[in-house]
Amino acid sequence: MQMKPKDQSTVTMKTKRLTLREFHDSDLPAVHAYAQDAETTKYLEWGPNTLKETTVFLNESLGFQKEQPRVTFDMAIIVDGDQKLIGACSVTILDKKKRISALGYVLHSKAWGQGYATEAANALAKFAFEELGMDKILATCDAMNLASERVMQKIGMRKESELAKDKFIKGMYRDTLVYSLDQATWTALNASADTVTD
Ligand SMILES: CC(C)(COP(=O)(O)OP(=O)(O)OC[C@H]1O[C@@H](n2cnc3c(N)ncnc32)[C@H](O)[C@@H]1OP(=O)(O)O)[C@@H](O)C(=O)NCCC(=O)NCCS
Repeated sequence: MQMKPKDQSTVTMKTKRLTLREFHDSDLPAVHAYAQDAETTKYLEWGPNTLKETTVFLNESLGFQKEQPRVTFDMAIIVDGDQKLIGACSVTILDKKKRISALGYVLHSKAWGQGYATEAANALAKFAFEELGMDKILATCDAMNLASERVMQKIGMRKESELAKDKFIKGMYRDTLVYSLDQATWTALNASADTVTD
């Protein structure tokens, strides 16, 4: 699939209950609400954040919007009902020639368990394959992060490898699971992300 010649500085994805949109300056308090939460960040290499660290993250994300060509799509996750920002997700092009990109997601712990991450991850996969023309998407998680692994499985990803003690996070060595999904399998699965991008 060819990259569509459309403006990629302002991407929006819609799912049944969520809008994934570009970050704004004014998102800082909502981003910091999840980024400073110890439960939210317990399996992550970063966090819990200081306000300064969250500000650096947000400024980086805002900077990515100006990339030409765009490599990183950091998106805020907004619940349509109350317009609350509950987390972030991303697509990053790792290898443009091989058409490989990585997905990521983080939700405030108060928003867990409602299927939001699966909904967002499906939209990211659809965007990566159908808008960016990727052939393969990758995602990784701490082997103890069962919820994250389940999200990867639910969008059709399959375990590719397990890296033993490759990270030292929050005082202990961690194993990393590497999951992937190729475009042909995605198409065959005909995943119904019910997403529209503009
Ligand atoms: C991982 C994360 C994004 C999941 O968000 P979520 O909105 O709760 O995910 P969903 O509700 O879409 O799906 C979670 C699935 O994991 C399952 N799950 C949750 N906790 C689990 C556990 N401890 N053991 C096994 N399965 C678990 C849920 O039952 C659900 O699966 P099901 O629909 O088959 O029942 C969220 O926990 C999070 O933000 N964690 C912190 C950041 C993070 O770890 N990000 C991933 C980095 S690799």
